[in-house]
Amino acid sequence: MSIQIQSLEQYREVYQKSVADPEGFWAEQASSFQWRKPWRQVLKWNFREPNVKWFVGGRLNITENCLDRHLETRGKQTALIWEPNDPKQKARKITYKQLYGQVCQFANALKAEGVKKGDRVCIYMPMVPELTVAVLACARIGAIHSVVFAGFSAVSLSDRIKDAECTVVLTSDFNARGVKNIPVKQVVDEALAMGCESVTKVIVQKNTGDPLKMVEGRDIWWHDVIKGKRKTCKATIVDSEDPLFILYTSGSTGKPKGVVHTQGGYMVYTEYTFRNVFQYQDGDIYWCTADVGWITGHSYIIYGPLLAGATTMMFEGVPTFPDPGRFWDVIQRHKVNIFYTAPTAIRALMAAGDQWVKGRRMPSLRVLGTVGEPINEEAWHWYNERVGKKRCPIVDTWWQTETGGIMISPLAGITPLKPCLATLPLPGIQPCLVDAAGNEIEGNDVEGMLCIKYPWPSIIRTTYGDHERCRTNYFAAFKDKYFTGDGARRDADGYYRIIGRVDDVINVSGHRIGTAEVEDAINKTPGVVESAVVGYPHDIKGQGIYAYVITGDAISDPDAFKKQILDVVTKEIGPIAKPDKIQLVPGLPKTRSGKIMRRILRKIAEGDVSNLGDISTLLNPEVVEDIKEGAGL
Ligand code: WT7
Repeated sequence: MSIQIQSLEQYREVYQKSVADPEGFWAEQASSFQWRKPWRQVLKWNFREPNVKWFVGGRLNITENCLDRHLETRGKQTALIWEPNDPKQKARKITYKQLYGQVCQFANALKAEGVKKGDRVCIYMPMVPELTVAVLACARIGAIHSVVFAGFSAVSLSDRIKDAECTVVLTSDFNARGVKNIPVKQVVDEALAMGCESVTKVIVQKNTGDPLKMVEGRDIWWHDVIKGKRKTCKATIVDSEDPLFILYTSGSTGKPKGVVHTQGGYMVYTEYTFRNVFQYQDGDIYWCTADVGWITGHSYIIYGPLLAGATTMMFEGVPTFPDPGRFWDVIQRHKVNIFYTAPTAIRALMAAGDQWVKGRRMPSLRVLGTVGEPINEEAWHWYNERVGKKRCPIVDTWWQTETGGIMISPLAGITPLKPCLATLPLPGIQPCLVDAAGNEIEGNDVEGMLCIKYPWPSIIRTTYGDHERCRTNYFAAFKDKYFTGDGARRDADGYYRIIGRVDDVINVSGHRIGTAEVEDAINKTPGVVESAVVGYPHDIKGQGIYAYVITGDAISDPDAFKKQILDVVTKEIGPIAKPDKIQLVPGLPKTRSGKIMRRILRKIAEGDVSNLGDISTLLNPEVVEDIKEGAGL
């Protein structure tokens, strides 16, 4: 096993070592895994191209490390607990031995369907155990999984399938979420009708069992493809730097891009961070409420916990069904020890009232975590007092899809906490703050743009099919640094507080949404001439989406028109990208070179027009008054 830090003194010492000798540090962390061939070199890198390679020449299969390696000691231990949407339905428990069998069996089925090493497999499934089986089965045979969150629309799904040229799509019939029953397979049908020529097979898992149309010759049932398949499957041994998966995420420009993570480094980093941040102890029941459709689910529902031999829980439903006490009920019933969720969920449950958590005894809880967005003081204290009863450390974990794993975070019970601060970098991580000119800001009690100046094992390797985009997005802004897109403060004690994105990315309920993406969708609505989207503070979601829309002709029924815009955004991206507010405007404030002045639009969206700055240099300063008036300011 990799190191498990036990004290603050040890943290400081190990951190120093990791900076003085990064390769030695990571070689030590990697040595506990099962490698089929040892690496020749720990690290080869430059941030110029960029080109980063970890454990060069090493060969392995990550599923041997998640499953086979544990069979002797943990074969009978529960690997996965599945809590269904409907609390009246019984939870499912799957042991390591059983999970191994299911993964191997489905891997054999994928092989029989012609899936080979390096092929891309799209997974568009709800939170069912088969989703975890699907992910691991791909990894078993060296196929690259591309999980698409099942809340995305057919257009989004289709774009992602085409970009990665997936050959197979794995899906389920329906997605049971709260009182809804979402026809997931139907979305796949619609997506595939928009091109996607690379796809030859769709494998459908029967979840709710409601009636469904299958396409002859293309669609096959999951239970049929596994029939007669063996429950053992020799793992395909891959190179440390072969891709493990692609996961699409939004940037400040254009369409979402496919972040590529590779095998060896991702394996080492997710296990190391899982055990250290949460201070995982053998036998713990661990629950991360994220969806596997996001990086949090990849790294901290599936890979990290299974690599560590933990019992990991998957929850199919939503926090408020059948009532806002659901999380606490599940924690009590399954005796959850480590609970990891998002600030937006905490705020929503807090808003539902204390009665849902009040009488709950949750003595099993030992560690609480948050991820995805800055947490506000009120939510932090509520989480600490009402949920953790002031005896569970809260780990505020900062990281990103591109970082693969947690980067800046307290180590539970070890790092002294300050509410709302991600605190200190993990050993092996070298963050820095830079100013607009790209100079590193030294010392404490300072603020700047957050960069990382040395590679770590699970750093993004490329954006699929477009390496140049990876370079310009993350490595071009500041020489020899990875730029995160976040602003941060380092306080007097050297603790980091993440302020939020400094680019045109908004964080809505912990989901990353590019303003450009939403604008492109809005602009597809008939009658829309131009639009500009900004984020604004939202009590529950953290940030809400505010859209300013210029229309061509006069709109006779503004409400119907706005509804139409919402429908188009839902169709193009998905319900998560729907603007919370739409304001119809006669124009947008622009500079003389035609650039939209988003700063002004953000201020108006925030409802604060006390200091709009100098607007006299605008091409059309008069429009600002109109927009203010339209916003009721
Ligand atoms: C962005 C990354 C990492 C998994 C989920 C989100 C924001 C993430 C925190 C935190 C403040 C945070 C950042 C980051 N973010 N964690 N603890 N405190 N902000 O992954 O979709 O790639 O989004 O989420 O702005 O850049 P993602």
